[in-house]
Amino acid sequence: MKKDDILELEILDNGLNFEGISRYQDKVVFVPNAILKEKVSVKVLKDNKNFSIAKLEQIIKPSASRVEPFCSVYKRCGGCSAQHIDYNMQLIIKNNMVKSCLAKQNVKAKVINSTIGMGLPYYYRNKVQYPVRVNKNKNTVMGFYSKRSHDVVENNCCYIQERVIDMLAKKIYELILEQKIVGYDEVSNTGELRHLVIRRGYHTGQIMIIFVVNNKECINDKRFVKLIQDIYKLTDSIKGIFINVNNSKTNEIFSDETIKIIGDDYIQDYIGDFKYYISPKSFFQVNTLQAEVLYYTLKKELNLNGNEILFDLYSGVGSIGIFLSKNVKKVYGIEIEKTAVDMANLNIKENNLDNLEYIAGSVEDKIEEFKKRNIKPDVIVLDPPRKGLDDKSIDYILEFNPKKIGYVSCNPATMARDLKKLSEKYDISSITPVDMFPHTSAVECVCALNLR
Ligand SMILES: C[S@@+](CC[C@H](N)C(=O)[O-])C[C@H]1O[C@@H](n2cnc3c(N)ncnc32)[C@H](O)[C@@H]1O
Repeated sequence: MKKDDILELEILDNGLNFEGISRYQDKVVFVPNAILKEKVSVKVLKDNKNFSIAKLEQIIKPSASRVEPFCSVYKRCGGCSAQHIDYNMQLIIKNNMVKSCLAKQNVKAKVINSTIGMGLPYYYRNKVQYPVRVNKNKNTVMGFYSKRSHDVVENNCCYIQERVIDMLAKKIYELILEQKIVGYDEVSNTGELRHLVIRRGYHTGQIMIIFVVNNKECINDKRFVKLIQDIYKLTDSIKGIFINVNNSKTNEIFSDETIKIIGDDYIQDYIGDFKYYISPKSFFQVNTLQAEVLYYTLKKELNLNGNEILFDLYSGVGSIGIFLSKNVKKVYGIEIEKTAVDMANLNIKENNLDNLEYIAGSVEDKIEEFKKRNIKPDVIVLDPPRKGLDDKSIDYILEFNPKKIGYVSCNPATMARDLKKLSEKYDISSITPVDMFPHTSAVECVCALNLR
């Protein structure tokens, strides 16, 4: 096989980015946009030693699950990569992704449940981060990054974010243009506005707006002052407006410097019966309805008896620990972001709870504190970021020897790697994929582990 060859292939699987996976003469060929079981004609773009990448040229036998994408910018926008696949099939592919990650690590689970999808898999994102840039014509544009680049695709209607956020963003963009605010230029690290971030409480309707600016002077600039005043007047639902100052050449959206300009320090929302404070930078699940499904699934799988000591590790604003607090004796949590721990403490008070304690710091550094204080968990809940667990934390978890572990993961590859290590001592009783991000390739899982 060589570059530009045309091949006929059958798609044998879909990968972690929903790309079709085939084989040609014992070599793996990745075909973006092809679906499981399709027969396709492709053009080889890259022929590497161990795999090739090919472009879909023609679909010879389409999958019954192939559908017309619903969004007009689907081909250009890097937002959702699975709109060409009907929703039921997306759920099946996500389930297969989890199974193939487990198979690669030779990890066995007693039960792998079907992926729990959404009844209405649209308008779910409660937080949207719009890049604001100058384009080639020196116009300020706002939208989403295109596939594999930081060019901005303008979009008037995004079907996966809450409609109110969509409508508000449109209005704010008009006001940005009215004030002649200049979008950021990544190459020269110049310009004024880098990102507009909007968060909204799904159940409360409360809105927070964060402008990520390239220099601090913006705070006193007449045009920014007017912009913020005009936005604050738009609706009572806007509870607070913030400026985050980020002038480094980085892909990170936020810096550590966030300044409140007007209104409250946070918004609130509910997951189940519990109310949570959310600050500009604290982690909060972006799909509130599915977060409820995720947490209820975890609660059901852990089957708590009310007498347990539970560790909530990687705890964010304490969402999981608080959600489970009425079903256990005591919760101890660790979270690296100090402001999220502050929020967790507010959340404990707001929900009139008295059996939780959260500490700020990394799990790998702070978990030892519990050992020194002779606190022994019956249950450990883990909800790490995409990179999963580090070896030091896994060693501590194994040493603590809890009867049950609940592992919530947003990355099936690192989850499978970690489960392999934990399965030294634990049976994996169940894995339940939950679809937090319909029409994208992301999949979240709830794993229940029991001490052998
Ligand atoms: C996927 S979020 C889960 C948050 C929370 N459990 C929830 O459901 O909202 C992962 C959290 O781990 C935190 N984190 C990342 N690395 C960490 C570390 N080494 N130690 C402790 N917390 C960490 C992040 O700040 C983030 O809040």
